[in-house]
Amino acid sequence: MQDGTDVWALIVHGGAKEMEPAEEEANRAGVLQALAAGREILERGGSALDAVEASIRVLEDLPAFNAGRGSMVNEQGDIEMCAGLMDGRDLSAGAVGAIRRVRNPIGVARRLMEEKEVLLVGDGALKFARDNGLPLAGEEELRAAAEKQSLLEGAHDTVGAVALDQGGNMAAGTSTGGISGQKVGRIGDSPLPGGGLYADNHVGAVSFSGDGETIARLALASRVMASLDDGVDMEQAIAKAVAKLPGTGGAGADGGGIGIRKDGQVGWAHNSPHFVVALVTSDMAAPRAFLRKTEEA
Ligand code: GLY
Repeated sequence: MQDGTDVWALIVHGGAKEMEPAEEEANRAGVLQALAAGREILERGGSALDAVEASIRVLEDLPAFNAGRGSMVNEQGDIEMCAGLMDGRDLSAGAVGAIRRVRNPIGVARRLMEEKEVLLVGDGALKFARDNGLPLAGEEELRAAAEKQSLLEGAHDTVGAVALDQGGNMAAGTSTGGISGQKVGRIGDSPLPGGGLYADNHVGAVSFSGDGETIARLALASRVMASLDDGVDMEQAIAKAVAKLPGTGGAGADGGGIGIRKDGQVGWAHNSPHFVVALVTSDMAAPRAFLRKTEEA
């Protein structure tokens, strides 16, 4: 863990998925916009938790991504979203599952961190948002365009962010609009600490996107934490976890993850055709964005 240094790092993603060429520009611009929102907070000494929430809010508000606006419809034609947020300072977490009609699921997860409960679902989650005066949204506003719904049939894309702040604190977050045609009440990995996300100042922080059922069965974020504890590099830890997906969930089980180790080492890996990522650290002259890992070279 960094302790009161000026080292900071931020990485965000816009989903493990396969993109049409026409979607690439909006995805690249969107992750850079999300990164800018979180970077501004980290540069002025703000918290990793605030930076992660700010970045994810931007991604939820952009219809190019399957989270908040741009969500998939379930088998009944309704929108049910999931989000999770975790603070590496004290392992506090807030998450919502199958929540309807809220503008920013990540904002509801953030507000829940002030309570004892870690995860609220369905009507209970919506009631909590309403009781706390959090912004609501109509289904029309949240629903992804019809052509995107059919393009992403069965695909699991998500958005996420991971940050290390100048105080050595870490946070991770996820948000998803689910899978097109998913069963009513389905919850994937995104709101599950240890599944789709984890953050611990003493180890690192990670956020996943991809086949939610398989990520949950494998407790993929926990596996990354165990690898980091064993001294594995951030990127190798994620790559090792992602490599487990097809063997457990079948050939189509793909995904991607982003992470930051406690010492600030940033890593990401995926086995999906695309995984749109943007990252910036206190050591970098400028932010960088990638649509797939092979662009890194
Ligand atoms: N990874 C997001 C989901 O499967 O719901």
